Amino acid sequence: MSEVHVRRVPAAFAAEAHIRAEDYETLYRQSIEDPDAFWAQQAKDFLQWQQPFSRVREEDLQRGHAAWFADGTLNVSVNCIDRHLPARAEQTAFIWEGDDPADSKTVTYAELHEQVCRLGNLLRARGVNKGDRVCIYMPMIPEAAYAMLACARIGAVHSVVFGGFSPDSLKDRILDSDCRVVITADEGVRGGKTVPLKANVDQALASCPDVHTSIVVKRTGANVDWFAKRDIWYRESVAEQSAQCEPEMVSAEDPLFILYTSGSTGKPKGVLHTTAGYLLMATMTFKYTFDYKEGDVFWCTADVGWITGHSYIVYGPLSAGAISLMFEGVPTYPDASRCWQVVDKHQVNIFYTAPTAIRALMGAGDEFVTRTNRSSLKLLGTVGEPINPEAWEWYYEVVGEERCPIVDTWWQTETGAHLITPLPGAVDMKPGSASKPFFGVQPALLDEEGCEITGEGAGALVMKSSWPSMIRSVFGDHQRMIDTYFSTFPGYYFTGDGARRDGDGYYWITGRIDDVLNVSGHRLGTAEIESAIVLHEDTAEAAVVGYPHDIKGQGIYAYVTLKAGHEPSEALRQELIDLCVKEIGPIAKPDIIQWAPGLPKTRSGKIMRRILRKIAGNELENLGDTSTLADPSVVDELIEHRANR
Ligand code: PRX
Repeated sequence: MSEVHVRRVPAAFAAEAHIRAEDYETLYRQSIEDPDAFWAQQAKDFLQWQQPFSRVREEDLQRGHAAWFADGTLNVSVNCIDRHLPARAEQTAFIWEGDDPADSKTVTYAELHEQVCRLGNLLRARGVNKGDRVCIYMPMIPEAAYAMLACARIGAVHSVVFGGFSPDSLKDRILDSDCRVVITADEGVRGGKTVPLKANVDQALASCPDVHTSIVVKRTGANVDWFAKRDIWYRESVAEQSAQCEPEMVSAEDPLFILYTSGSTGKPKGVLHTTAGYLLMATMTFKYTFDYKEGDVFWCTADVGWITGHSYIVYGPLSAGAISLMFEGVPTYPDASRCWQVVDKHQVNIFYTAPTAIRALMGAGDEFVTRTNRSSLKLLGTVGEPINPEAWEWYYEVVGEERCPIVDTWWQTETGAHLITPLPGAVDMKPGSASKPFFGVQPALLDEEGCEITGEGAGALVMKSSWPSMIRSVFGDHQRMIDTYFSTFPGYYFTGDGARRDGDGYYWITGRIDDVLNVSGHRLGTAEIESAIVLHEDTAEAAVVGYPHDIKGQGIYAYVTLKAGHEPSEALRQELIDLCVKEIGPIAKPDIIQWAPGLPKTRSGKIMRRILRKIAGNELENLGDTSTLADPSVVDELIEHRANR
């Protein structure tokens, strides 16, 4: 491995930081030695409780069980809004930057309160009660956040579905969590193009007879079909509601939201997060990882349809009383300078994005960055996939002018908040390493037998104990949660990632070790894509693997076997791609399809994905043992016709 270029925490930054090196060591030790005392204190400091908790933590990882602060009660919207009103009613909560650079506005905490109350009342008027699920399928507009918080206010459980998912995916998610109400917009706007959200909802709801209400925000004013019994306009309907809405106090362990994510098998799972533990860690990591200070402008470029948007556009920032920037567009529209123009326009202090965006902007050339000022920036962050040191250095030198520490935050939909990340005033940076565990987090590396590796080494990344924002269930299928996360290595939470630990105790995430792809920071199950491809009547079988891709991190490589009597063609290739888009969404488009007369299988019929991954990655030296294959000659055929050279 090449030499690591350690970047020390800039002294000026460290001097002002919330957590300095010595604080990190002390607090981390306390959090591990006496977790109950540590977390009890944090939960009192960071959250407002209606009824205080008396029990801190129950945990039994053998059963996948954890409960935090279980007898306390609180309300998330009160924590995110009402508690700030005495001091900061007129402070900006959200800065909204539209897709069109001429479009922006601000929303104060007082305005946010009013909007959330009105919508909470509307939901109640439409029969939504505590515990009911509400689907949110929205563009990046403030109403998306109002919808999440309005659910939290009345104790309903939201399920946000990313606006890039297809009607079929939306339908599956609505049915799986039995949502009866959908909140959407006529259209979304991204990169100068419109997205037909309402039409997608109409298509999905044709198969969801229990949905009785869809609340539609008018974003573009496009003509949309209207079903008078079901559809209501957002603006007119909330205007009729009171601007005061009594919050529903819920238990710490009542569900807050469901968010679907892909796994290695089957359909996406509805990851369930509960109330207090989730909010505590979102708030605390927001403050410490980003070293957020009063008045800072924080911009996370994720979509609210992903966990990053949940925790670091909405819940973490608002609970901390911060100013959160929400961006409707894409980093390359109108051109690759957009992010830095927005930074200058709104004087952004903290900027948080994905390595895929950094690589794309790096590819566009420095001039798009250097023509902007960026002097407001204090800190940069990344999330979603490993960042290659070259992209890290570019981000550090060109974007941050060596002034801004970078926090490479490792976490997952299931973890709710950062688990491994540098704290910027405390931990020196090693480009490409997510560095050290957050307070209370106990990572370990296991070998193939499930034994813990001590000191330096590489293995499966697991957690030895629960943390407050840990997944609590898979909605409707608790056993699936146990099977997925708590059975591979009994007594541990299994992340699905591999990692290496160096001599300084830094973690280097090497990527997924299960059949999950990470394409531009988006998680996709190979099984989902394979199922879409084999829906085509000409296909017999498909095997999907990832391969290294310069911009996306991983690209999608599909090997497809046709039924006897069918011939490959360009038209068929396009039909298969279209099918993936229809079934899942544009993010699931295969980059490469290779026609495979046969797939390498063991004698028991199991596809040897290891070999397929190597061929897709054009790594032919080390194919490993092929002698156990039922028909080793298929490998030569696949190599000869490989499509990524
Ligand atoms: O493989 C890891 C990768 O993203 C996965 C989680 O994906 P998702 O649930 O969609 O959440 C993404 C945003 C939190 C992880 O299992 N991942 C996430 N952050 C990093 C990362 N890989 C390396 N470095 C990171 N900082």
